[in-house]
Amino acid sequence: MERTSLIAGNWKMNGRLPDALAEVRSLLQRVEAAAGEGPELLLCPPAILLPPMRAELERHGANSRDPEKPAGGPPLFLGGQDCHPAQAGAHTGDISAEMLRDAGASHVLVGHSERRLDHGERGPLIAAKVAAAHRAGLVAILCVGETLKQRETGQAPAVVSRQVRAALSADCVPANLVIAYEPVWAIGTGLTPTVEDVAVMHATIRRSVERITGQPGHRILYGGSVKPGNAAELLAIDGVDGALVGGASLSAADFWSIAMAARAR
Ligand code: PGA
Repeated sequence: MERTSLIAGNWKMNGRLPDALAEVRSLLQRVEAAAGEGPELLLCPPAILLPPMRAELERHGANSRDPEKPAGGPPLFLGGQDCHPAQAGAHTGDISAEMLRDAGASHVLVGHSERRLDHGERGPLIAAKVAAAHRAGLVAILCVGETLKQRETGQAPAVVSRQVRAALSADCVPANLVIAYEPVWAIGTGLTPTVEDVAVMHATIRRSVERITGQPGHRILYGGSVKPGNAAELLAIDGVDGALVGGASLSAADFWSIAMAARAR
């Protein structure tokens, strides 16, 4: 089945305002100069940067929520990195999916391993966040992945399938849910799984998602140390529909080179 690739950048807690706007401008120049079709592009900066980044995109004629293709280039979306399950309330420091949408987001990451680790996020909470994203009309990008110990003890497929089962419901459809397979041990380490391991895990995830939602066609991204130098190999793997990129998404040149590797698929 033909699925449009998605190259998503997770800026994590990086990006001060002037640098962020310079990166967006630099990326937009590349988007505008690109001839023909490319993958969908998504940037997930710290939430406070969403409104100025949206304003910058709009200045360039690229509306991040309902993107016009800027000058023939690929669409560029904005997303949040997390959301609270509730719409509003006494939750100091949190942000709701609706607020992200107001700020210009069309997507939100949910269940990233750094949230699972730093904030103790588990299945039911992550499921509630996926539902909140859908309530607000956002595409949820559910992040799943095993630790090194789980991989070394042969538990990786069971752990990842359990994470998928815990977070998804029959309401999830390809238009509102993307999965990102991110082995925890590959994030920020320069390590990546073998091509075979990625292919097996993506097939395992695809089976779980289809069983739960009753629908084929969900996009499954690979994440964890994706760089310009390994993007072509990772993106060529059967069942890989794009990438979730951390460190390399902070440079417009590197992010664009990863996007170009997806275009060449
Ligand atoms: P990385 O991060 O590309 O820096 O490994 C990926 C992620 O955490 O989404």
